[in-house]
Amino acid sequence: MKQPGVFLNEAKIRARVAEMGAQIRKDSGPDTPVHLIAVLKGAFIFLADLARAIPGPVSLDFISVSSYAGKSSSGEVRLLKDLDRSIEGRAVIIVEDIVDTGLTLAYLQEILRARDPKSVKTACLLSKPSRRKIEVPVEYIGFTIDDRFVVGYGLDYDEQYRQLPYIGVMDGD
Ligand code: IMP
Repeated sequence: MKQPGVFLNEAKIRARVAEMGAQIRKDSGPDTPVHLIAVLKGAFIFLADLARAIPGPVSLDFISVSSYAGKSSSGEVRLLKDLDRSIEGRAVIIVEDIVDTGLTLAYLQEILRARDPKSVKTACLLSKPSRRKIEVPVEYIGFTIDDRFVVGYGLDYDEQYRQLPYIGVMDGD
């Protein structure tokens, strides 16, 4: 199988995730419990690293929404797995791998806000602003990238490449 070329290497990702974790703690205050909600499956590696980069009290939960197969988005979002615990009164941070059209995130923000959390913010590792179909607030962005299809560090192409330790691009993309 072909190895994707390196787009963002491990050292760059590690350094940026460390900065994001420190910023999240600074903004939240020293003692506020931060409740991370990872969007499966793409955010699982980012979540693991980000959770360890936030000093102080952190808890986490998982949610899963339908994602599209391959490279084209259907524009439809469906809830596949809900949270295990209530988020009422909690300072929630949605942890996403990448914001592309923004449709997934807009849907998640809407359903989570309706559950009376103290606050809802979003941390995404990657953002492709040129692809947005809907404006959606993202408080913490790791890297802003052009319209390229990336894989690795949790991100897949038809369920492949999630385990790569770096963010890669396929040839010709
Ligand atoms: P959105 O709803 O269009 O913003 O899409 C968000 C989801 O699409 C992400 O959580 C990813 O699962 C997937 N996605 C978007 N762009 C890429 C990419 O370049 N590589 C892999 N997955 C992507």
